[in-house]
Amino acid sequence: MEAPTLNNVQGLIARGYKNLPAACYLLLEITQTDKAKAWLQQLVVQSAANKPDQSCMNLALTYEGCKQLRLSPQLLAQFSREFQEGMSGTPHRQRILGDHGDSAPEQWQWGGPYKTRVHLLLMLFAANNTVLKTLQNTESKKLKKHGLNILEPTLLSTALEGGKEHFGFQDGIAQPWVEHLRPARDHMNTQPENTIETGEILLGYPNQYGQFTERPLLGEEADEQNFLPNDLSGSRRKDFGRDGSYLVFRQLNQNVKLFWNYMNEQTDKQGDKDPYAMTELASKMMGRWPSGTPLVNAPRQDEPTLKPKDDAFNYIHDTKGLACPLGAHIRRANPRGSFGTSTETHLTIQEAFEVEKRHRIIRRGRPFGKPLASSLTPQGLLKAKEDQINRGLYFICFNANINRQFEFLQQAWINSKKFQGGYDEADPIIGDHKETTGNQNTEHSSSFSIPDCPVRRKVHKLPRFVTVQGGEYFFMPSIGAIRYLGHSS
Ligand code: HEM
Repeated sequence: MEAPTLNNVQGLIARGYKNLPAACYLLLEITQTDKAKAWLQQLVVQSAANKPDQSCMNLALTYEGCKQLRLSPQLLAQFSREFQEGMSGTPHRQRILGDHGDSAPEQWQWGGPYKTRVHLLLMLFAANNTVLKTLQNTESKKLKKHGLNILEPTLLSTALEGGKEHFGFQDGIAQPWVEHLRPARDHMNTQPENTIETGEILLGYPNQYGQFTERPLLGEEADEQNFLPNDLSGSRRKDFGRDGSYLVFRQLNQNVKLFWNYMNEQTDKQGDKDPYAMTELASKMMGRWPSGTPLVNAPRQDEPTLKPKDDAFNYIHDTKGLACPLGAHIRRANPRGSFGTSTETHLTIQEAFEVEKRHRIIRRGRPFGKPLASSLTPQGLLKAKEDQINRGLYFICFNANINRQFEFLQQAWINSKKFQGGYDEADPIIGDHKETTGNQNTEHSSSFSIPDCPVRRKVHKLPRFVTVQGGEYFFMPSIGAIRYLGHSS
């Protein structure tokens, strides 16, 4: 099967741009379609063919945006149902994502049913804040001239020291490996169990089932200028989706004070006066130590001699979760063979890895907001005064099938209280801990078990540390598809 043409793929799908730590995301509304099309014709976005140097941009669209750009009804109807309905489009979707109470779309700062419709997402990346500001100013002028309204809020990210997120843990480590998307580097886990088919991320290529995920195709006559590649599945049509990917964006608030107070109180209550105990509890919940070292490699304490970024590990020798609890955030988000060791599933380890490969995502999120304590250490964060500053993570991920990948992950693994034999445990870091009965959300919160010898430890009444403040499903088109959008009438 043909490999993707990297200069047709937008760069963010292939790279996290770690050399460009400054970033902001502009939410745009199209007020004049013809002018917006003219803007698209000259827009220069970064491709995956090479690494950007000082700054770059990438673009994604919502379903409403595709409509505003006058894509034909036949083409629109071929996008996935989730994308058409939007992140907050139906009560069913809100339920599976756990978006209720403080996280309900009615409360969101953007996206959601009661806010102005977002049409486009322009993502700006730069080597530092000065370069970012210059880029933002230049682009904003062009946007205004082309009838593109910049909506509130401007989503400005904050690069935290050492690549950490706001709770103080190293982030941005594990990713699935997609051959052909970029050259392999030493720190990347290219083992077969971490390698997924191109079609799991990019549309227009075979996925883990050996099939092509549904995507918009059109007759050759509709693309006279030949901007779009051919459909590789042999339909003799043009492929609007090929080399593109669905982008999930969620603005997640992190309550850092609540997080470390909870860890402190729980370890105090259990008679543990050792200040390291709260770090251990939080790490058991995360599945990695603050340095990034996986618990499965260092179950008792962080071990600086280990390579912190080591990602080539699995859980097949930790069947009971004695090293990394079964319900830890990273073990839920990527079970790395855990189901092959479970008596419930009857899967071999190999089969388990194959199943998991159907639910992987590429993460490209970045933090926002000033850190609660600049040290970002557990003690520093615990001792810092509450400051009411809004901080968290712009969670961003790519997948070819939102329903089978992101939504499945969120519903069946992260928010499931029954995950791996549990009965009242959701993801301790990001989980939705409330019970949903019909349309009612009761106040019941979940617990978290830490398997140990001779007896397991358990903490109760987990509060929700992470709430949703905005979000939308986007499509990141190929570079050819951007040109098509610009030139089609
Ligand atoms: C504020 C919210 C979140 C925080 C603080 C957080 C934090 C982390 C951290 C510290 C890691 C380990 C470092 C790494 O491998 O990059 C991680 C891994 C991961 N997270 Fe999250 N995360 C959040 C939200 C989410 C969401 C919403 C999802 C998906 C629905 C998710 C999916 C993953 C996945 C797939 C991994 C990699 C697991 C692995 O392969 O080992 N995370 N997260």
